[in-house]
Parts: sequence; C-alpha cells; structure tokens
Amino acid sequence: MKSKQGLLLVAALAAAVTLCSLSPTQESKEPGFKNLKVLSKKTTKREMDSVMQEFKVALGVRCNFCHAASKDDPRKMDFASDANRHKEITRDMMRMTNRISKKYLEVTCYTCHRGKEEPLLAPERPIRAKRKSKH
Ligand code: HEC
Ligand code: HEC
Repeated sequence: MKSKQGLLLVAALAAAVTLCSLSPTQESKEPGFKNLKVLSKKTTKREMDSVMQEFKVALGVRCNFCHAASKDDPRKMDFASDANRHKEITRDMMRMTNRISKKYLEVTCYTCHRGKEEPLLAPERPIRAKRKSKH
C-alpha cells in the first residue's frame, strides 16, 4: 500500500516537472511574429504592443497608417504584410534612430516627430516675414 502511494506521488511529481519544463518553451515561442526585419525575432507580445503604441503616439497616427488591411477580411489588419509603404519607411526610420542613439545621443521617434507624420524642417512661420509685417 505504502509503496503504491509513493509511486503515485512520484508519478504526480514527474508530471508536474514535465509541465513546468514545457510551459516556458511554449511561452517563448508563443508570439511567433512572422515578418520582423529590425526588431528581434524574440520580441514578446508585450514588447511589440509597447513599441507599436510608441510609434502611434510619436506620429499621431493609427495602426493603419503603416499596416495594410487583410485581403481576406478588409475589416481586419494584416500586421505581417508589407503592402503599406509606410511600414518600410518606418524600418529605415528605426535603423536611423538606433544608429543616432548609438553614435550620438539617445533619440526616439517623438524627438523629431512630436506627434506629427512629418516633422517640421523649419519654423512654421518664417521669423523674418513676421517681423517685416509689423513695420
Ligand atoms: C509608424 C508605423 C507603424 C505604426 C503606426 C504601427 N506599426 Fe506595427 N509595425 C511597424 C513595422 C515597421 C513593423 C515591422 C518591424 C520589423 O520589421 O522589425 C511592425 C510590426 C508589427 C507587428 C508584427 C507583425 C508580424 O507578424 O511580423 C504587429 C503585430 C504590429 N506591428 C501591430 C501594430 C499595432 C496593433 C499597431 C497600432 C497600435 C501598429 N502596429 C502600429 C510599423 C508600425
Ligand atoms: C532625426 C529625426 C527623426 C527621427 C528620430 C525619426 N524620424 Fe521619421 N521622419 C523624419 C523626417 C525629417 C521625415 C520627413 C522627411 C522624409 O520623408 O524623408 C520623416 C518621415 C517619416 C515617415 C514618413 C511620413 C510620411 O508622411 O510619409 C514615417 C512613417 C516615419 N518618419 C516614422 C518614424 C518612426 C516610426 C520613427 C522612430 C522609430 C522615426 N520616424 C524617427 C525625421 C525623423
């Protein structure tokens, strides 16, 4: 009797150990993003959400500014698709941002974009013209 219970316990423990060792590997595979060329292939879902949220806020746009609609169901987005040209522009912007941050100083998308699709390259109103109009 006793040894039978012992065996059951061992079997239960073994099952628990197998479950524990299985779940982490399953979790790390879970995000399975299909088309990453700049971000790490190991990017988790949580990390992806926060990067995409950052892009959205930095440019003042929605997900569909960079992502194409699904061909099967136009109400859904196909996040892995590269059909929207803004996605590839963004990859270049990500590489540039990483390079500036490594070589010079820490910058983010927001540093230049400030909530706009296209950053301003010059003051909105030429300073001189404004002065002239006063005289
Ligand atoms: C400014 C452009 C931009 C915006 C806005 C944006 N994304 Fe992305 N997204 C990208 C780029 C670029 C990649 C690919 C990154 C790479 O190649 O490493 C990507 C990749 C993804 C992926 C991974 C797809 C795969 O399987 O490869 C998901 C999911 C995703 N975006 C979701 C979102 C969601 C949700 C939003 C809105 C909250 C959003 N994105 C907004 C540019 C954008
Ligand atoms: C050093 C400044 C700078 C940084 C940092 C920067 N951008 Fe840009 N970005 C620009 C400028 C300037 C333009 C417009 C000129 C051009 O299109 O070449 C632009 C254009 C874009 C466009 C095209 C907009 C359009 O209307 O077609 C996208 C998309 C974009 N940036 C996304 C990003 C994202 C996402 C990041 C962060 C990963 C980022 N940028 C970081 C300066 C910057």
